[in-house]
Amino acid sequence: MSRVRASSAPAPKGLKRPVKVCVRVRPVLEREVENGCYHGCIAMAHERVYISTEDKPVLIGSKDDPPPEGVKVYPGFDGLLDQDSSQEDCFQVAGRETVDGVLWGLNGALMAYGQTSTGKTHTMVGDKSRPGLCLKAAAHLFSEAGLLGSQIEVTASFLQLYLNHITDLLVKDGHEKKLKLREVVEEDFVDTRVEGLSSRPVKSMDDVEALLEEGNRRRQQACTALNASSSRSHAVLILNVTLWQGTEEENATDAKLYLVDLAGSERVKDSCATGDRLTEAVHINKSLFALQGVVAALADGNPFVPYRNDPLTQLLRPALGGNCCTTLVATVSPAQKHSRESEGTLNFASSCRRIKGEVFVNSVRKPRPWEEKPKEEPTKTEEPECPWASLAALDAASVMESQMLDTAHGQIHVLTCGPADGEAVLLLHGCPSDAWTWKWLFPPLLYSKYRAIAIDMPGFGSSPGTRLGSRSELNNAKGGPLDICCAVLDALGVQKANVVGYDWGAGIALSMALLRKTRVNKIVPFHPSYSPPKGENLGVMPVPVLVLWVKEDQFHNLTKWRKHFQALPSSKRELEVYSLGSRWKPGMSLGSDPQLGPQLQRRILAFLAGEVAAPVAGALEKRLEAKAATAAGQLVVHAQNVVVADALADAGDVAKQLREVADPTLAAVQQFKELWSAGRLAALYAQRLTGSSASSAALFGALPEMSPEALSDPNILVNLGLWSQAPEGWERMRHTPRYCVGRKVLVRQKVIFKPSDSDFMCVSSSGADRTTSKAELKGKSKENADTWLVEVTEAGGSRRMAEVPKAEVLRLNQRHDLAKNGKHVLLEDGLKCDYSSPLCRAKLCEIALALSPVVKNLDFNTADGGEAVQLKALEVIRKCLDIITFQKGLDRGRSCATCDDVAKMACHGQGHCHTVSSTMAAFLFPFAQVLGLDVKYRGGYSWGGVNMGEPADETVEVADSPERHQWLEVTLRPSLQSYVCDLWVADAVGNDALKWPISEAYQNRLYPNGSFNIGQQSCPEEATDLDLPEL
Ligand SMILES: Nc1ncnc2c1ncn2[C@@H]1O[C@H](COP(=O)(O)OP(=O)(O)O)[C@@H](O)[C@H]1O
Ligand SMILES: [Mg+2]
Repeated sequence: MSRVRASSAPAPKGLKRPVKVCVRVRPVLEREVENGCYHGCIAMAHERVYISTEDKPVLIGSKDDPPPEGVKVYPGFDGLLDQDSSQEDCFQVAGRETVDGVLWGLNGALMAYGQTSTGKTHTMVGDKSRPGLCLKAAAHLFSEAGLLGSQIEVTASFLQLYLNHITDLLVKDGHEKKLKLREVVEEDFVDTRVEGLSSRPVKSMDDVEALLEEGNRRRQQACTALNASSSRSHAVLILNVTLWQGTEEENATDAKLYLVDLAGSERVKDSCATGDRLTEAVHINKSLFALQGVVAALADGNPFVPYRNDPLTQLLRPALGGNCCTTLVATVSPAQKHSRESEGTLNFASSCRRIKGEVFVNSVRKPRPWEEKPKEEPTKTEEPECPWASLAALDAASVMESQMLDTAHGQIHVLTCGPADGEAVLLLHGCPSDAWTWKWLFPPLLYSKYRAIAIDMPGFGSSPGTRLGSRSELNNAKGGPLDICCAVLDALGVQKANVVGYDWGAGIALSMALLRKTRVNKIVPFHPSYSPPKGENLGVMPVPVLVLWVKEDQFHNLTKWRKHFQALPSSKRELEVYSLGSRWKPGMSLGSDPQLGPQLQRRILAFLAGEVAAPVAGALEKRLEAKAATAAGQLVVHAQNVVVADALADAGDVAKQLREVADPTLAAVQQFKELWSAGRLAALYAQRLTGSSASSAALFGALPEMSPEALSDPNILVNLGLWSQAPEGWERMRHTPRYCVGRKVLVRQKVIFKPSDSDFMCVSSSGADRTTSKAELKGKSKENADTWLVEVTEAGGSRRMAEVPKAEVLRLNQRHDLAKNGKHVLLEDGLKCDYSSPLCRAKLCEIALALSPVVKNLDFNTADGGEAVQLKALEVIRKCLDIITFQKGLDRGRSCATCDDVAKMACHGQGHCHTVSSTMAAFLFPFAQVLGLDVKYRGGYSWGGVNMGEPADETVEVADSPERHQWLEVTLRPSLQSYVCDLWVADAVGNDALKWPISEAYQNRLYPNGSFNIGQQSCPEEATDLDLPEL
């Protein structure tokens, strides 16, 4: 065979191709379950493998978070196959590219590496019902050659390396003859041949299956304590593949495919090996050690590579260091008790990734061996009847209106059909193609009265001009595809359109939905050729997306595009994967396929019409949640050590459930309620704190937003199913006055300001200006409406009238409006609150649920105006907030103690008085209107520790300036009683401080100076607020 670098072959010349490495985790085995429980140690997420090195549970957050202690992270693998991955998944991810390379004349190798009984043989060989890579690869070779119309000739050899000896598995008694290795120096690399190895032609899958079965029977197998049928030898199946393409008689490509099932390493201690088994184990471990040495040398680019240290490395030399597209599948057990071995495997796998080889197309001249078999007639299946069948029969050219539009970006040719006022569907072709590619979609669109608008991009079809670049980052260039699409819509008087695109056009649809939101309703990207450029974040996709895929299409790789699909918000995305089987041919018009066409047409119409979609295709859903399972009739608790918050399966389930009911908000509330009653919120909050859980994000994000403005009426909570009923008399309460005779108010007066003085806060001409609560509202001045009259207590106990400015009373006593910056509410101590954030929605829903039984007893019409229940509500809200003060001593870690997100604080926070007050404020304010609470921040001075009973120290004088302490003050309506709500003091002395009458609080422990730091404002008075007589 001569090896030339063919120029006509589709693969590049001298292609640099690193060793590709995939990791596969096998399912739990029964023997890994002990006492009904097993600890899993591996998680795959964020394109990485996480492995816990210690047997303790950890939570993995977002990609950017540093991994928690006790977890190792392995990034950068080419494919990750979790325990639910099928053999087909494994082939598509790990095998297919290499096998495709073989079809182009590139040598390939697929090998499985890992500890004993981690699934190497399962991966490479499998069994009848679950064929592994060997059979899948052979099947792919035959079927692809058929599709390409190429003649193929395959011969197979099968050998094993057992205790240092290579023997032929295809020869009877072959194990008696030890075969020798010979190095053959080629132009640029050294090939290894096995002298005397037989090879056998295989013409069909039946041949391959028979050959594998025969060889595997001969393979040395033995029982060890680790694996009932553990393969004790390395086995290599070699397929020599010659392909004649085109019409030339003798031009062919010739490539070898190595399929390697390595014997597994094991700790001799674990397998309890003795005698022969021990000798085997020693040999296996030695050869694998040699393999590691070779990989390390290749990865480091050492000039000397110790291939000759072991027959295994000599045998695999062409696969590792030569002209070969090699893919390694590193197999690992999910069990914690094998984590050390799994780590070893992952380390090895990581070093393999650093090996870079150069591959060449092996072109040969060889006469064609046999006549091309007559192609099988495709089996005819009934064409489903479509309602638009009669329209489809019309000549498309007569239905479509062809017009040339003059736009700011040149002349653009478009085809349109359907009513001018119909909902627009913009159709964007791929590259290269033109508007007519959508011929198959015109009849159903026309039938459903859409206005179809198919564009010829400049330089394509009938549009003049220079062709635009088709890279995603050019979509939004000036005068680029997005500009052109909008110009066409403008020219046709269309404001908003659905956009259906193929390939390049599909990418344009995605960019358009992200960057020209106002012009797009929904999008259907079919085989998108798109990777998000800078500034385009699929995670914020504002419109529903239906991604369509035909899995056989070699030019559009779904495996690669998966990550982009997964980046789309789970509530917005749908994926439909179709299979054409052997009907797929390069260049075929997918929509015109008699079976696929109608399926596509129906699906697109259903999506555009907003019909409920089928659940997202199963293959993309990752199930990471540990589930109980039965093994041998026993209930097994699967306790995952590494739980990655990115639980797509959960998100899928949530999304599915959300789709099943008309109102997704109600569905989300319902589901949240169930989780709440099951006591599962804490775990979900823990996920959200790390910010990356798709499941909790999907659910929490679907909950209603409950900002103080939004909760303007208790019936909103009733309608959401969060409250069983609205408080009695709420409407009436809402119109009761806030300022009437007898209300205790804070006013500024000259007072005695030593707390140890029995006349503390009594008015005195010798005192200083301070804020006192020892004032009772009496009326407004007849002469001046801006002056109010209050009764104050003088030193000595007598009462007298005093005039105070109305503005001052309002400033000190009105409820507060929280300061805002954009969507954030600003709170003291640098905290912020975004009521639209998923975590905030969830926390508020939780509070609403907790309040429901209390609110049932809230009746504003009772003698106390509901006061007792309102105070109870304060306690309930406080109880829902998982925030503690520093005085509690626990250290909750820096992240929550220092973060500025009040929602996180409410889930696992720690702070001082400013922080706890702000957290309470953020979650109390939304319920203020529905519970009749006027909430105020209070900054001021506290003295003598926090014990409410202690007398004040002689030396203390309250001062106006220091922001020594912060708390909240709540005035209840309609009773107009005011209470201090102080979480800091409550943490020290008990819940009484959450509802501390101001007469007591402002006498014994706290002084409200009436100043605020960050722009909270007193709300303006309402028309119904004043009920004061003129005096
Ligand atoms: N991905 C998988 N799915 C289902 N079963 C598997 C998988 N991988 C391994 N197994 C099972 O685990 C056991 C050990 O696998 P095996 O392939 O023999 O391991 P190895 O070849 O690495 O020693 C077998 O019973 C096999 O069927
Ligand atoms: Mg095996």
